[in-house]
Amino acid sequence: MKTFEPLVYAGMDPQVAPMVERIQFLKEKHRAIILAHNYQIGEVQDVADLIGDSLELARYAASTDADVIVFCGVHFMAETAKIMNPSRKVVVPDLKAGCPMSDMITPEEVDRLRLKNPGAVVVTYVNSPASVKAKSDICCTSANAVRIVSSIPPETPVIFIPDQFLGDYVQRETGRKLILFEGFCPTHMRIMASDIDRARTENPDALVIAHPECQPDVAIRADVVASTSRMASAVRDSAARQVVVGTEIGMIHRLRKENPTKEFIPACSTCDCANMKVNSLEKILWSLEDLAPEITLPEDVIRGARKALDRMIELS
Ligand code: 13P
Ligand code: SF4
Repeated sequence: MKTFEPLVYAGMDPQVAPMVERIQFLKEKHRAIILAHNYQIGEVQDVADLIGDSLELARYAASTDADVIVFCGVHFMAETAKIMNPSRKVVVPDLKAGCPMSDMITPEEVDRLRLKNPGAVVVTYVNSPASVKAKSDICCTSANAVRIVSSIPPETPVIFIPDQFLGDYVQRETGRKLILFEGFCPTHMRIMASDIDRARTENPDALVIAHPECQPDVAIRADVVASTSRMASAVRDSAARQVVVGTEIGMIHRLRKENPTKEFIPACSTCDCANMKVNSLEKILWSLEDLAPEITLPEDVIRGARKALDRMIELS
């Protein structure tokens, strides 16, 4: 997890500096913090108090004593922050920042899967609605999915939802057969095995990193398959001077900032999550001015989802 001091620095774009100053003023006034996912646009990452992957952001949201959390990511991540720390006000810059993979699964689908597979444990990727988490036994993120599934006795069947490709990666890593759902990330789907092959031919010494949401024929070609923050540490620890990045291209902002002498080559330049990109400095400012739009959830959903998330945190 990377923490920054949000600063109006010398040389900052004069159009942007007053906005950042106002954001800082409002943050202090409301005792607010700004959390941002690794895929956010550069300007948003640069004003955040903390950037990270889903697991790090959930953990930080759980432990913060700030009164207000401005969550810059997609809707399920902000919901998770609310579930982990319900007494805080959680606001988002834009309520329309959803996640198409998360929208592929419903609570009714969980009921159907349970009926079809009695006795199975339901492991739910955090990229899911709170109402689905509330019907699950345990959650996971891309950073801990292998560990979570490995913690379940081998004779117990596991229903893994909603990402079939993360599920497939967990199957390969654990040697277990999972009951998979057909969900997927439309952004990571855009990366093709041929993109990796071409990038390797053009950059034979490069380190190739990929997210486990990628299709299996992409993931098996990568040197490192990891969550977004683990990608950042793998790049830092590697001697490679070139890195082929098999994930959402917003990731490259952080990688460049932390590794100014390395070259980053997107595996696919259209691997761009439109939802992650709807947040902006202006919208952060408005969310702090109005303390809205706010994330609210029914009590019973918070209680149910919290159980599944707490089990995940205990095992992480
Ligand atoms: P991470 O938890 O690895 O940051 O992934 C979140 C995500 O939505 C990837 O598409
Ligand atoms: Fe959802 Fe994919 Fe965007 Fe991640 S990159 S938020 S999984 S659509």
